[in-house]
Amino acid sequence: MLVAALLAAGGLYVALSPADATNKADDASMIAKGRSLFQVGCSSCHGQNAEGIVTKRGKQYGPSLVGVGAAAVDFQVGTGRMPMAQPGVQAARKKPVYNQDEIDALGAYVQSLGPGPAVPDITQSDIDNADVVKGGQFFRTNCTACHNFAGSGGALPGGKHAPSLRGVSAKHLYEAMLTGPQQMPVFSDGVLSPQDKKDIIAYLKKNEATPSYGGFTLGSIGPVSEGLFAWIVGIGSLVGIGIWLTSSSTRSTKKKGDAA
Ligand code: HEC
Ligand code: HEC
Repeated sequence: MLVAALLAAGGLYVALSPADATNKADDASMIAKGRSLFQVGCSSCHGQNAEGIVTKRGKQYGPSLVGVGAAAVDFQVGTGRMPMAQPGVQAARKKPVYNQDEIDALGAYVQSLGPGPAVPDITQSDIDNADVVKGGQFFRTNCTACHNFAGSGGALPGGKHAPSLRGVSAKHLYEAMLTGPQQMPVFSDGVLSPQDKKDIIAYLKKNEATPSYGGFTLGSIGPVSEGLFAWIVGIGSLVGIGIWLTSSSTRSTKKKGDAA
């Protein structure tokens, strides 16, 4: 029995440990690669060791990235917000500069500086199995104040804005909630559990795929576009009808005839 147990333990160790060791080596080379990418593309704003740079007037040039986690890097770099082109009010979404391998390396490097949220693992079946109705309730309670009732985005004070949520991938939706970029609050797992987050994502994806049965959406941005439409098209056509009526009524044609 003892010999068998020892053999089993030894065998298991042999079977499992090499995989671990190579993983470690992979991690180390990923971190090294991420570090060198970071030094070239990010250190000018975030500091040589991602400690952040404060300007003379006490403003953040680039914040410290210690403890923001791989999820924040995957979101910021994956949506093209980072590297920021120039310091400004808000880092805008643009075409990503790095490919996914490089983003993973940058993420591994930042994750090695201090523990933070890891890149979430979300699959299509997670979305298919999520509760869309609950997701809609969570969305209306937590997100519509900034992102509008249909996720079309909206203006915020100080020249900032909450972007539209259409066409954002499930992974980036999840990471935005997990890391709270810029003005957006962090929705940690204590506030919205991983399942709640998946419900919200499923709701937004369902919303995106649903045709607008009620007619034109006018961009789903609420009273601004609807009011403009009512003024220009609604009142405009009433004025047009008014002009047409007065110019082609019997009285106006009679007057024209009299004058001639
Ligand atoms: C031109 C300066 C600049 C460059 C270059 C830059 N960043 Fe940033 N970064 C910023 C600023 C400013 C913020 C803060 C944005 C805010 O919150 O308003 C920021 C925020 C971030 C955040 C979010 C931190 C958080 O608290 O969630 C991450 C992650 C990040 N940067 C990663 C990177 C990476 C990786 C690179 C290189 C590929 C990079 N940045 C290059 C200026 C820069
Ligand atoms: C206080 C206002 C506010 C609330 C509440 C808020 N957000 Fe945001 N959100 C923002 C701002 C501002 C940005 C833009 C940040 C940036 O540009 O880095 C943003 C960005 C995002 C993005 C990134 C979009 C893109 O184009 O890459 C997603 C996804 C997102 N929010 C989802 C959500 C969800 C889901 C909720 C609710 C659980 C939510 N937000 C609640 C303000 C908010």
